[in-house]
Amino acid sequence: MRKRVFSGIQPTGCITLGNYIGAVKNWIELQKEYDCIFSVVDMHSITVRQDPKELRKRCMQFLCQYIACGIDPENSIMFFQSHVPQHAELSWILNCYTYMGELSRMTQFKDKSQKHAENINAGLFTYPVLMAADILLYKTDLVPVGVDQKQHLELSRDIADRFNKVYGDVFTVPEAYIPPVGARVMSLQDPTSKMSKSDPNPNGYIWILDDPDTITRKIKRAVTDSDGVIEYKEGKDGINNLLSIYGAMTGITPEDAAKEFEGKGYGDFKAGVSEIIIETLKPIRDKYNELIENKDYIEKIYKEGAERASSIARRTLSKVHRKVGFVDRV
Ligand code: AMP
Ligand code: TRP
Repeated sequence: MRKRVFSGIQPTGCITLGNYIGAVKNWIELQKEYDCIFSVVDMHSITVRQDPKELRKRCMQFLCQYIACGIDPENSIMFFQSHVPQHAELSWILNCYTYMGELSRMTQFKDKSQKHAENINAGLFTYPVLMAADILLYKTDLVPVGVDQKQHLELSRDIADRFNKVYGDVFTVPEAYIPPVGARVMSLQDPTSKMSKSDPNPNGYIWILDDPDTITRKIKRAVTDSDGVIEYKEGKDGINNLLSIYGAMTGITPEDAAKEFEGKGYGDFKAGVSEIIIETLKPIRDKYNELIENKDYIEKIYKEGAERASSIARRTLSKVHRKVGFVDRV
């Protein structure tokens, strides 16, 4: 039997080059060897206030971007998290097997409660439990994510382990799949913090649907340093970031990327980085523009996706119900 992969992105902001390199690009690769399930995790996104109209539109756009990037709807399951109610149901049960102390140590919770001090809701706190439910419902073996999700994934493993210790082998304990290069793409404007889709300054990130001129402009403006030497070295955050981006997109290490540009100026280097990004993203943008017009096709994908996902999720959830002692439904 093929092993299973699950991953998801919250439909907030837009899919950035960081999401692409840290996550989506690896999803495409893993499709060849694994049974894959990719969700647009809309339930996670409402832990921060969203405009309803915008959210609905963005969910559709995200799904189209998944497909445009190369997720194959014939093989992989794609769906909206809110269409499979078992996620919320299992999440409740797992809440009862997760400690307050564990959740208060999550760095994403600490960051987000600082950023949204006016709305530190319970959902923001239990967010990692919903994520654990996403993963555990499908007996997932591998979870491809960027390095910022490592802590959440470890918690999912701990919850699975804890549950299994009480009730026997119910859940598969998942492994993280973190790419060797590009697991943490940094902001183009502040290379000491991660490229984030909620950055208010669009010059900090590249959107995977940015046009070539915008990409060139953003890379040109990317913060570097004044020593003019292209090497991958501690303290050269801006250059390191561009080398990692270039390396991740061409399949080489940042050190080898630096060798390719040895002796060149930053201008030439940046032109080379822009070029590889533009070349990679162009077919994605073309495909996206086609898909977004094709509502019936997209609807069919997420409808079938939810049905296929539900049929797996239902089985896991009913096993969990039996284990914890709920009366069988008749
Ligand atoms: P999010 O944007 O938080 O919904 O993240 C979606 C996926 O992209 C997760 O797997 C993250 O780990 C990954 N990701 C987000 N930002 C970055 C980044 N700057 N570099 C690498 N991976 C990232
Ligand atoms: N928490 C993840 C993020 O912010 C998104 C996510 C939700 C996820 N559920 C998941 C990722 C399950 C992998 C598996 O990036």
